[in-house]
Amino acid sequence: MSKIKAIKAREVLDSRGFPTVEVELSVDDSRPTGELCTGRAIVPSGASTGEGEALELRDGDPKRYQGKGVLKAVQNVREKIAPALAGREFQLQSLLDDALRDLDGTPNKSKLGANAILGVSMAFLRAQALAQRTPTDQFIASYYGTPGTTLPVPLMNIINGGKHADNGLAIQEFMIVPAGFDRFSDALRAGAEIFHRLKKILHQQGLSTGVGDEGGFAPQFTGAKPHDQALIAISQAVSDAGYKLGEQIFLALDAAASEFTAGKEGYQFEGQNVTSEEMISTYGQWAKNFPIISIEDGLSEHDWKGWGLLTRTLGSHCQLVGDDIFVTNPIQLKRGIENHVANAILIKLNQIGTVTETLETMKLASGAGYRSIMSHRSGETEDTFIADLAVGTDCGQIKTGSASRTDRIAKYNQLLRLEERLGDRARFAGLKLYEKFKK
Ligand code: PGA
Ligand code: ZN
Repeated sequence: MSKIKAIKAREVLDSRGFPTVEVELSVDDSRPTGELCTGRAIVPSGASTGEGEALELRDGDPKRYQGKGVLKAVQNVREKIAPALAGREFQLQSLLDDALRDLDGTPNKSKLGANAILGVSMAFLRAQALAQRTPTDQFIASYYGTPGTTLPVPLMNIINGGKHADNGLAIQEFMIVPAGFDRFSDALRAGAEIFHRLKKILHQQGLSTGVGDEGGFAPQFTGAKPHDQALIAISQAVSDAGYKLGEQIFLALDAAASEFTAGKEGYQFEGQNVTSEEMISTYGQWAKNFPIISIEDGLSEHDWKGWGLLTRTLGSHCQLVGDDIFVTNPIQLKRGIENHVANAILIKLNQIGTVTETLETMKLASGAGYRSIMSHRSGETEDTFIADLAVGTDCGQIKTGSASRTDRIAKYNQLLRLEERLGDRARFAGLKLYEKFKK
């Protein structure tokens, strides 16, 4: 094992032009040449964040980046974490992450900042992989105890709404799920071709083809049922591109419903105040009319009762994914499992703040029969760690945006590289995942 020689941190920009933390961590190689292995990582940032997320430390200085600077987090890496870890050896990722958590000492990483801690955690993993001359995905696989050969089904967010756009759609993400293919690269190609067809359709309808934060279109549908219009436009794009809806291509939603709650128990949806039951019946209706196989955050993170009903009502037809309600936190997920809430979890490293806790949550999920979907944040960078993590854990699904914007495409391109490197060993998660949900 190798000693930590240096840890550097700097403020860089994310895909929205706001600051985020980049960390470089060097370990000695334990080889005669004595060269250093340096892992680099950049932390992402969400917009529709769950209340239970670990704390993203921002400077709050209105004179810099509207208060969103991360110089304090950078300083914490340089002045608190680096001196405490330099010269130390950690046999396992979990030991490094334990040391980081001890150094912070708070339950939500509010002292040092989850952005500071996660940057170090990810950079350490990369440095270790380099020191062992092992590709990051395979290093994760051997650590996690999985084959590391599964290319995930991409859940591609081709119409953006909610907090990621300015178009009046309450539902944040309309995704296509190209599952009916033998290879990841064919699925990705289908997704990109459908995206281009959708552009044509929107253009013909006189709608904007500008994109939102995750690279999907952000049209302003003008009818009384804008969400149905979005689903119809996407379905049309699938058939125009020459693919079979419900056989090769499925649909998925992320409602991010915590963002459109109204009052104590209700929701503000398509101009009306509605109850959890009414939202569930809307989802049920959509799932009847369209091949929707996955719904994320269909109800608010506080609406546990509604979530229970949602799971009982739609859980056998649909993957129901908890994002804001679980925040990649094992304690929250445990509560969900005990209460039969959801049947899948969205995995975002920066919601919990270390690689180890992320893997712990994934293990807990799979032990309980919940699927894990690896996920980007709406504020992303060129860092492709989640592509390696998706393959390294064989989790089977990844949500990393549309077929535009390099912050999203970088992950897809990394998955293409992994598929090529794995060669005959590569397996595409594909249709099997959704068989039990198909009508
Ligand atoms: P966020 O959006 O990164 O803004 O939280 C992604 C999601 O809700 O899944
Ligand atoms: Zn979400």
